Amino acid sequence: MSKKHKETVQKQFTKTAEAFSTFAVRDTPEILAEKVEFAKPLATDLVLDVACGPGAFALGVAPRVTFVYGVDLTIEMLRRSRAFEAEKQISNAVFACSDAEQLPFPDGTFDLVSCQCSFHHLPKPALVLREIIRVAKPEGRLVLMDPLAPESDPKYELYNRIEKLRDPSHALTLRLTDYLRMFDEEGLELLRQSVRRRARSFHQWMVRAALNSESKRYQETRKLLEDSMTGDRAGFSAQAQGDDIQIVHNEGMFLLRRRQSEST
Ligand SMILES: C[S@@+](CC[C@H](N)C(=O)[O-])C[C@H]1O[C@@H](n2cnc3c(N)ncnc32)[C@H](O)[C@@H]1O
Repeated sequence: MSKKHKETVQKQFTKTAEAFSTFAVRDTPEILAEKVEFAKPLATDLVLDVACGPGAFALGVAPRVTFVYGVDLTIEMLRRSRAFEAEKQISNAVFACSDAEQLPFPDGTFDLVSCQCSFHHLPKPALVLREIIRVAKPEGRLVLMDPLAPESDPKYELYNRIEKLRDPSHALTLRLTDYLRMFDEEGLELLRQSVRRRARSFHQWMVRAALNSESKRYQETRKLLEDSMTGDRAGFSAQAQGDDIQIVHNEGMFLLRRRQSEST
């Protein structure tokens, strides 16, 4: 990750820490519960949550496992994860600052390594996936969750343009086929896969990026989205809803492990 992109991520998530944390930890408990269930945590698991943000997944899984580490690049996010940890009276988690491209753990440490809603911020997703595989035990499980971009090239490009206009720390949302190819190239096998439809308010989505309707970036993003609505040219399934617009993110959820032949 270039120094410039790293600074852009830290700047963006320092600005949005409050709004994003409220959304991730307080506003969507049913989605969080679904994700924890999907990961099938075991009581004996030592877990790492990569790019943990305000700690929603780490703290959600903590009561079900032995111990959880959460790492993130943005100090302001880590500050919130520690505050939520205290509020929820969780005592088997610890949060630290680290770049997902260079995880500060020895090979084969964790039973379960998760990364949710962060791959689209990574300029080198395969490099981070390799780090995630490295720190997992040979028989360890990986849980990866992230929005999926549309498969068709023109939709994929417009979808990512809209995302990038909204949030300069956006790198690239991958397609389902990109993920499946990357998993195969990195020697992983799928244990479970699910694609979930997350319908949300455009306005709230912009608020989570620290943009209000007066700002130029808000208006430009809205215009690009509105222009794409006929024929769903960006793949957001956008629909007018009063003054607002409903958009849809299709979230891919993957539970993986090393292919048996690769780990022996
Ligand atoms: C959209 S938030 C998701 C946070 C959390 N996983 C969740 O779902 O609530 C993306 C997070 O990725 C972090 N991030 C982006 N690039 C990173 C990197 N290279 N290493 C560690 N964290 C990173 C950001 O600081 C931010 O907290």
